[in-house]
Amino acid sequence: MSLQVIDASVVYPGQRGRSSTEALHAVNLTVEAGEFVVVLGASGCGKSTLLNLIAGFVAPTAGRIVLDGQNIQGPGADRSVVFQKHALLPWLNVRDNVAFGLSLQGRGKAERYKISEHFIEILGLRGFEDAPVYTLSGGMQQRVGIARALTCDPKLLLLDEPLGALDALTRERAQELILRVWDGSGKSVLLITHSVEEALFMGTKLIVMSPRPGRITHTFELSFSRRFLAGQTARSVKASADFIALREQVLQIIFADEEAA
Ligand SMILES: Nc1ncnc2c1ncn2[C@@H]1O[C@H](COP(=O)(O)OP(=O)(O)O)[C@@H](O)[C@H]1O
Ligand SMILES: [Mg+2]
Repeated sequence: MSLQVIDASVVYPGQRGRSSTEALHAVNLTVEAGEFVVVLGASGCGKSTLLNLIAGFVAPTAGRIVLDGQNIQGPGADRSVVFQKHALLPWLNVRDNVAFGLSLQGRGKAERYKISEHFIEILGLRGFEDAPVYTLSGGMQQRVGIARALTCDPKLLLLDEPLGALDALTRERAQELILRVWDGSGKSVLLITHSVEEALFMGTKLIVMSPRPGRITHTFELSFSRRFLAGQTARSVKASADFIALREQVLQIIFADEEAA
């Protein structure tokens, strides 16, 4: 998998006499196989627009998005999306929610359940297969959403603040789980988050965006997740001196944008 966002701009037309919004201006980004790209930036800087562009939900006003040599024309099974507000089907149980994307692909029930089994296992949902999803905690519901996204075997997983509504402890557990699922899978991830700590901990590459117009202003290579995957505890990685120094540097960039708003 190789993704290129090339000089992409998005202008939303103004509604009812209001002026138009340039949500993205000439953005360039490359995502290679196995990369974990995290996106930070003040509210309204175009993070979700960038993700929706790559998902194929929004078309660029200028520029193009190329996935494995082909211009993206719309959504596809090679990309899966998880939003902060999970889009689960409350009347279905965990198993049928996880298998839902496969039923959209027209796969038979036996095959759907067989594939879903694996992701129910790795996301720690074993024992809850028959529970209706509305009976689960927020953290478990988000894991169902991630399991569902993975069943379609996407090359690129697009996550728009998927952990934003979780309490601190559940969120840390979910970060660790996502890293373990990603590690060695060869899949690429694009994760949007409001948490600088989460971004630094999870990504192999960090991009920081600024608003009006939305654009990428900084890029950092990261290797903190490798320390965790090599056996260091998440807390000790997050408490290390180089982690804290970079966290403060990135916070200053974002605070400067928030103050200018
Ligand atoms: N569908 C839309 N129509 C008009 N304006 C939009 C639409 N979606 C987003 N915007 C505007 O585009 C800008 C970027 O939005 P968004 O990509 O959601 O930013 P972020 O996810 O970083 O908060 C904001 O000013 C927002 O109000
Ligand atoms: Mg957003």
